[in-house]
Amino acid sequence: MPGPAGMTRGEPPAAEGFGHLGPRAGPQSPTPDSLGPQSPTPDSLGPQSPTPDSLGPQSPTPDSLGAIARLCSSCLPDPPDEEELSGILYAPDRPAVLQGDPQVGIVATGIDQDRGFVKLLCVDPAHQGKGYGHLLLEAAETVLRKGGASSVTVGADAPYFLYPGVETTQTSMLCLLERHHYKRVDVNYNMAVDLRAIPPDPGGAEPADPGELGEISSWMEQHWSFWKSEVLRALSKRTLMVTRDRHGLSGFCAYNVNRKGTVGPVAVRPELIGKSVGTRVLLGALHRMRRDGYLSAEVLWVGPVVPYARVGAQVSRVFFVYRADLG
Ligand SMILES: CC(C)(COP(=O)(O)OP(=O)(O)OC[C@H]1O[C@@H](n2cnc3c(N)ncnc32)[C@H](O)[C@@H]1OP(=O)(O)O)[C@@H](O)C(=O)NCCC(=O)NCCS
Repeated sequence: MPGPAGMTRGEPPAAEGFGHLGPRAGPQSPTPDSLGPQSPTPDSLGPQSPTPDSLGPQSPTPDSLGAIARLCSSCLPDPPDEEELSGILYAPDRPAVLQGDPQVGIVATGIDQDRGFVKLLCVDPAHQGKGYGHLLLEAAETVLRKGGASSVTVGADAPYFLYPGVETTQTSMLCLLERHHYKRVDVNYNMAVDLRAIPPDPGGAEPADPGELGEISSWMEQHWSFWKSEVLRALSKRTLMVTRDRHGLSGFCAYNVNRKGTVGPVAVRPELIGKSVGTRVLLGALHRMRRDGYLSAEVLWVGPVVPYARVGAQVSRVFFVYRADLG
């Protein structure tokens, strides 16, 4: 269940296409020339290094999605597919800025007011250990600083996020960030639930209809504004379950918002907290996922453990949130 986040727009795309991180030989860094889209020359393999500026901010193009998805498959334990990447990097209200080359490594950034985020940073295993990780992180910091960000956080970039931080199993990423003096400021975690073993559906939760957009939008604005974008995305995908009482909407549970097989955010009208409405709407969503063929679900960025433990969920993945000042 993602935590509070502002809802301002991200950085607009700055240019077409990707920069190209040229090949690098030996322990030296690549040169600005070697970053162009040209073939490498012996000179470009020399002992000079690229600067973050030479990577420039570019926007992803739909053509690059396949290449980014392949890169993610090569270096992430749970790679997003093209559709998921599209929703996270190309959201019209929060387009990411991409730097790098999907054949080598990329970094995707976004800005929310003065808070900068690294949404995704990864280097193809064939190119790891050559300095690209350092380079891409510095390129991200440069573009965020230029965009007015005063800090950079890695992951935890709601509403359209891939990870609620850096997974604690990603040792190389943890080391990269600590080498750059990022501070661990928070810990987030996901909980996994076996959908074959959930309690019976208590009933009462129904899928929301896109025709209810106006009502749901203003209810979210009134009660849980920081989750509005995710909930409206779920509504448009028809993956939003809601409960109602005589006062109107009483609770919601969104699923498959940014990634398939995931749950959250979930919330009830504030005065109903602790009165089982949340469990009702959560179970309604879990049963619907089971009917759709999912065997398990991952509740994202969990707040309180208890409501999810009650339906059989267990803490499954832990993420450190790293942040640095860009002052
Ligand atoms: C983290 C990652 C980007 C590093 O890319 P890279 O090009 O290999 O990195 P570099 O060669 O520039 O090395 C940068 C630093 O990363 C760390 N690092 C890289 N490989 C490492 C390894 N095998 N073990 C421990 N630390 C490692 C080191 O701190 C290194 O700097 P140092 O050697 O000066 O200490 C890459 O391993 C990767 O793509 N991992 C998966 C990324 C991920 O989890 N992304 C999701 C969250 S955004």
